[in-house]
Amino acid sequence: MSSSPPIVITGFMGSGKTTVARTLSRALNCELVDLDRFITEQTGRSPKEIIEQDGEPAFRTVETDCLRTVLAGELAHVIALGGGAWTIAANRDLIHEYNALTVWLDVPFSLCWQRISASGGKRPLARERDQAHSLYLSRRPLYELAGLHIEANEGLSDQEAAARIASALTQR
Ligand code: S3P
Repeated sequence: MSSSPPIVITGFMGSGKTTVARTLSRALNCELVDLDRFITEQTGRSPKEIIEQDGEPAFRTVETDCLRTVLAGELAHVIALGGGAWTIAANRDLIHEYNALTVWLDVPFSLCWQRISASGGKRPLARERDQAHSLYLSRRPLYELAGLHIEANEGLSDQEAAARIASALTQR
């Protein structure tokens, strides 16, 4: 287990988890792990490919395995989850075992959708606006379980979001 607890960033697809996590990891001078990227490196396939070829349940198994590996790593780190990872109870239990600071980047659906649709079909679970919106609404109560809630609309810069997280860390 790493010496200082990890910071785990969650939020819907298109909420800017990776960008905020990168800014934060630079500010704290610690390692950043983007779980989707880690999955791609470990399996040779992107989350999109795994979901399309093997289905979502198979992807969730891979995701949990990779999350376990990342959390067990030696270095203190900032972890950006994929948007569905936190919604799985087993993943939340795992994250709690490591005493992580968990952060929900709460971004309005319109902004998430703008980014999702601009990313060109990268997200198989959000192909249609209505489908994505239902998922967004159904996941909110689960994101609310995160320790720190950051309302991140267009008015909040990545630096400001990262500064809020860093400040919450010092108050733990
Ligand atoms: C997913 C979000 C994606 C990726 C996969 C499933 C989800 O990550 O893990 O397509 O269920 O919300 P991003 O949140 O980085 O898009």
